[in-house]
Amino acid sequence: MKNKLLVQAKGLWKSYEIRVSLFKKIRFWALKNINLEIKERESVVLLGESGCGKTTLGKLILGIEKPDKGHIEVSTSVQAVFQDPYASLNPRMKIKESLLEPFLIKFRKSEKEGLKKVINLLREVGLSKEVLELYPHALSGGQRQRVALARALITDPGLLVLDEPTSSLDVSVEAQILKVLKRLREKTGASYFLITHSLRVAKALADKILVMYMGNIVEEFSAELLNKTMHHPYTQMLIRAYPDPFAPSPPPFDQIKGEVAGITEIKKGCPFYPRCPIKEDICLTGSPELKPLSRKHSIACFLVSKLNHLN
Ligand SMILES: Nc1ncnc2c1ncn2[C@@H]1O[C@H](COP(=O)(O)OP(=O)(O)OP(=O)(O)O)[C@@H](O)[C@H]1O
Ligand code: SF4
Ligand SMILES: [Mg+2]
Repeated sequence: MKNKLLVQAKGLWKSYEIRVSLFKKIRFWALKNINLEIKERESVVLLGESGCGKTTLGKLILGIEKPDKGHIEVSTSVQAVFQDPYASLNPRMKIKESLLEPFLIKFRKSEKEGLKKVINLLREVGLSKEVLELYPHALSGGQRQRVALARALITDPGLLVLDEPTSSLDVSVEAQILKVLKRLREKTGASYFLITHSLRVAKALADKILVMYMGNIVEEFSAELLNKTMHHPYTQMLIRAYPDPFAPSPPPFDQIKGEVAGITEIKKGCPFYPRCPIKEDICLTGSPELKPLSRKHSIACFLVSKLNHLN
């Protein structure tokens, strides 16, 4: 059976205004022409460097921000988990109240039933019911993130937007949280839209990976294709920057130099041009569109035929 579409976005553009001097403000595009689909039970990972527009896209899915152009349809309930679990936990509320509150607001059920569900969910995220009487400050960062996850799941959302959920944690705690996220996905059947700058996190959880560069999706592919096919030069850069302890050391990729162009620089041409090791003059003629190479793989690059040589 085909899985239902939970999120469908077409041609999303989002701009922000920033002040560049006392008298001058300028507008720039934080997102450019984004198309996105998230299906039931699917885990979509959005991968890219700081400032590329990941959180902005997450906000459009959550309905916190509206696009300037294009439209987005979300046909399920959505909950969010952020990098800093303090953002979703009230420091003056005991964990028990923080977890019960959304349950009691959404479902007309008794506190006793709520508590049963809370304790079950705590077990799922690997916490004992002793934490119920504690305040957030008494927990470690990893424990707080587990509570934030339980809180996001207590109302049975169809989709979780996870914005860098492990980037404030150290690597061993991150590994535990990734395991919990995997398990919860199987158990609850919720879809994930996971935002990260880490290929390690993307690999652990993705069905589909979207690579974003300066507000553009430059590549979209089924996670099983990672490293088994040609990739966009920017994805290549991310792959080579990722230390895989089991892989032989990759050849240096020192062709990638250059600066990230300023977000406000209005440029014609491919946004990756300044850093691209295989660029040619044609790359300055316009912005390459995402084009399918197969049903499971699209790349936005004028020189797709040259990409094999990068691998
Ligand atoms: N409310 C706002 N007003 C002005 N500029 C904004 C606003 N929100 C985001 N931006 C800018 O839009 C761009 C994209 O921001 P966004 O937070 O989506 O990036 P990101 O990929 O999530 O980065 P990070 O990995 O650092 O969280 C950045 O240049 C950011 O400074
Ligand atoms: S279009 Fe040109 S500059 Fe852009 S990624 Fe492809 S080869 Fe590089
Ligand atoms: Mg962000």
